Amino acid sequence: MIRGDGIGPELVDSALTVLDAVADFPIELVDVQAGAGAYRAEGSAMSDAGLAVIREADATLKGPVGLPDVRQADGTEAGLLGGILRNGLDLYANVRPITLLPGVRSALRVDDGIDYVIVRENTEGLYASRGKGVGNDHAMTDTLLVTRAGCERIAHFAFKLASRRSGAPADGVRRVTCVDKANVLRSMYFFRSVFLEVAEQYPDIEAECLYVDAAAQAQVLAPEHFDVIVTENLFGDILSDLGGGTVGGIALCPSGNIGESHAYFEPIHGSAPTIAGQDRANPLGQILATAMMLDHLGEQAAGDRIRGAVRAALRGGSVRLNPDGTAVSGTRSTTDAVLAALG
Ligand code: IPM
Ligand code: MG
Repeated sequence: MIRGDGIGPELVDSALTVLDAVADFPIELVDVQAGAGAYRAEGSAMSDAGLAVIREADATLKGPVGLPDVRQADGTEAGLLGGILRNGLDLYANVRPITLLPGVRSALRVDDGIDYVIVRENTEGLYASRGKGVGNDHAMTDTLLVTRAGCERIAHFAFKLASRRSGAPADGVRRVTCVDKANVLRSMYFFRSVFLEVAEQYPDIEAECLYVDAAAQAQVLAPEHFDVIVTENLFGDILSDLGGGTVGGIALCPSGNIGESHAYFEPIHGSAPTIAGQDRANPLGQILATAMMLDHLGEQAAGDRIRGAVRAALRGGSVRLNPDGTAVSGTRSTTDAVLAALG
């Protein structure tokens, strides 16, 4: 576990209570200090020893990290772990379900429901430039990297995921949508071309391509059309918050950072230091990330129990949300409502 910064520790505590309630198998939990607090205390966002623990683990449950005033000399945040965990452990698929849960009011008018997954390429794209931007007082540049191997593996991941799902809410069609900017950037044309090559190996799944600007509109006007979206790192970062905004807020959105040998699970939102320690943070994103972690560990029945309880608590009104996704009744009572719904 990485408890993280800001609201992270209280969210992870909440998720661990739920994990404890559903786990009918032994779990060894190990704490790893990491993030902005660790950087401030030790001069590094994560120690080598901490990373070694994560490497040994079957999976990692991570709270949000980062504090706005803990910065590198170049102005970027010092407490973030993306470079260490996502690139360091080669966790190339960032899996972000965008699901409208029962009892949650969407900002949109939705008839058929919203239930798609954004598969965000997690190791290259524009964020390959993390820590490597160059320039001077007059100009700065960051470089967007797209490799054939990177595209192939993320495209395969997306098609395999689509083959395990039951299609888009609008029409039940299993569909993978490649979101790019192939009309302007060569790297993006390449991303699309490799995607279409991989698509030929999945004749039973519809493959389509959308430019990112059009995709952003479609996520608002016709979200029920989507089943699986696969996209570049920065686009996936932006579009997953957009998607979160259509299903009650990013507070409800879990994610998995998954590679061949390691994985960690976290909410997609940040550490919200302004509300830390006030029992105000919504723990559902962290709780649903725990369910994703259980799926990954081969404990899908336990993951399903958590998702079922969250749905029941929302449907029955024992958890109510503010329009911005914060929980009306606070972190602890939201957790208690989920525990009660577990039965
Ligand atoms: C996310 C977050 C991170 C990212 C930040 C905290 C660096 O926004 O996981 O979406 O940009 O990837
Ligand atoms: Mg983000």
